[in-house]
Amino acid sequence: MCGIIGYTGKGDAKEIMLDALELLEYRGYDSAGIALLKDGRTQMIKRAGRVKDLRNLCARINPEGQCGIGHTRWATHGGVCDENAHPHRFGSVTLIHNGIIENYRELIDKYELEGSLISETDSEVVAAVLQHFYQGDPYSAIRRTVLKLKGTFALAIMFDDQPDQIFAVRNVSPIVVAATADGAILSSDVAAIVPFTTDYFVMPELHVVCLKPDKIEMYDLSGDHAKIDWLKVDWDVSRSGKGGYPFYMEKEIMEQPQVIGETILPRVKEGMPDFSEEGIPDPVFADCKRICVIACGTAMHAGLVGKSLIQWVIGIHVDVVMASEFMYNDPVVDKDTLVIAISQSGETIDTLEALKFARKCGSPSISIVNVKGASIARASEYVIYTNAGPEIAVASTKAYTTQLAVLYLITARMALARGIWDEQKAKAFMEELLRVPGVIERVLETKEEIHRLAGCIINARDVFMIGRGLDYSILLEGSLKLKEVSYIHSEAYASGELKHGTIALITEDTPVIAMVTQEKLKSKELSNIREVQSRGARVVLLMKEGETLNEGEQWSCVYRLPVMEDPFMVMPASVVLQLIAYYVSLDKGLDVDKPRNLAKVVTVE
Ligand code: G6P
Repeated sequence: MCGIIGYTGKGDAKEIMLDALELLEYRGYDSAGIALLKDGRTQMIKRAGRVKDLRNLCARINPEGQCGIGHTRWATHGGVCDENAHPHRFGSVTLIHNGIIENYRELIDKYELEGSLISETDSEVVAAVLQHFYQGDPYSAIRRTVLKLKGTFALAIMFDDQPDQIFAVRNVSPIVVAATADGAILSSDVAAIVPFTTDYFVMPELHVVCLKPDKIEMYDLSGDHAKIDWLKVDWDVSRSGKGGYPFYMEKEIMEQPQVIGETILPRVKEGMPDFSEEGIPDPVFADCKRICVIACGTAMHAGLVGKSLIQWVIGIHVDVVMASEFMYNDPVVDKDTLVIAISQSGETIDTLEALKFARKCGSPSISIVNVKGASIARASEYVIYTNAGPEIAVASTKAYTTQLAVLYLITARMALARGIWDEQKAKAFMEELLRVPGVIERVLETKEEIHRLAGCIINARDVFMIGRGLDYSILLEGSLKLKEVSYIHSEAYASGELKHGTIALITEDTPVIAMVTQEKLKSKELSNIREVQSRGARVVLLMKEGETLNEGEQWSCVYRLPVMEDPFMVMPASVVLQLIAYYVSLDKGLDVDKPRNLAKVVTVE
């Protein structure tokens, strides 16, 4: 987590870094800081709070310099306070760090640092160890330090006596590097680089990069020159920015028809699902005996929808495993298990580690990733990119629905590759998939009606969401969305499970969002809804347009979803749930894009 930035060149490093930190704030926003190196002196300005607070502080102090490093923090070691904010400094070494140094305690003892550290962070310990080894040769000090570190790290380092230079090294946690028109820049991710250039490279692990105003050099840990593999950012830069909406979350919800279209269309050739651009041969889809989806959070919820689709169409077993639990349950994956890793950022460390483990076991792998060139994309055999463009709001919306779009495509390709569907069947499925952007457009046109629905739950302390099958899978995501942006406690429950305890929590003050979109489950679902209604619950019902409700039923609120074939109803329904969460948060006056305690990219275990 944590956003990192470094710049050296002819520009105003302070302004460049503050602008970049604002773009990186979604990685963490507990504290922020910068350090500027000028004439052999390093000036550090940092504080708990948001980047805007740091900007105000900088306006008062007005530091100068053309070489600097900056950080926005999601606290791991040590509480949220000015001292624990980055950068950290020890002797003539100043650094910023993303990741966790697991052996920091041992290092404190080994190098007798007790009493000489100012903060409670593991990062300051790294600065101290670097200082211990530093005798004028940054490369040697970095090499020797890295050999002592256990854990994950992305470090950007300045030495007082190395004018205009920034050094970087990483293990697991990402760093990207680019040349600007008047200098060089590094960051934890491409969002901060996009305003300057579309050419960048991802630092390989355990290499040392040196940024100079007119040059970028890279060496491996033995000190040999290493070749740089340049990449191109190929998303539309104009998509960053709020585009006139008050929050990124709303903008990203509204973008869904476009980005879902852009995710599906390049993979449809003559009406058929096609992954030839991705170079995925049909035997990958045809030969596996089971599938294991690995992901976290929203991406894991997308995996649950994928499981229902694949088990329904293909009839093979699909496990969806929370990546953070994967290693603790003696995972059983082998060469017959197709592993699908899903991740918006492509950097979630648990997903990455689980994927690497599966590959070691010989599993073929496909990742579904949004950020081009991200670690998970590089670690998997094949990658299918969701073309959602930059997703800035911490609560994921368009990344989720584009992940779903890819899972529909995979299901269809798999059915063809295994001879389960003929072309006609696949074509009909694809035609329905191609309707999705238009159907979502219709939902978005009703956003004021959904805004009113949000009014039914805004004052609730707890909200339950109930459904069966696919409806339950989407509600898990809808409930997560509501929790993260509105702070209302919410739980999604499989309707049939409610009677086994949870119904005890239903009172007249508990709104229940019920979803009924699957014809085969409708009658059972309506009985479950009656059960909660009998206990006084106020039900917000989401069901298809044109469906009849029994005369005389008392419904507090009903929303009619545009009709699609049942397996596709998750698409319009998800968007309604996203908007409900958004409007509750908005009307509560919360910081919708940056909910408390969260970060968008989770690079610590
Ligand atoms: C964080 C984000 C979630 C996201 C999850 C997995 O918790 O706040 O929105 O779903 O990480 O992230 P990934 O980038 O792997 O999809």
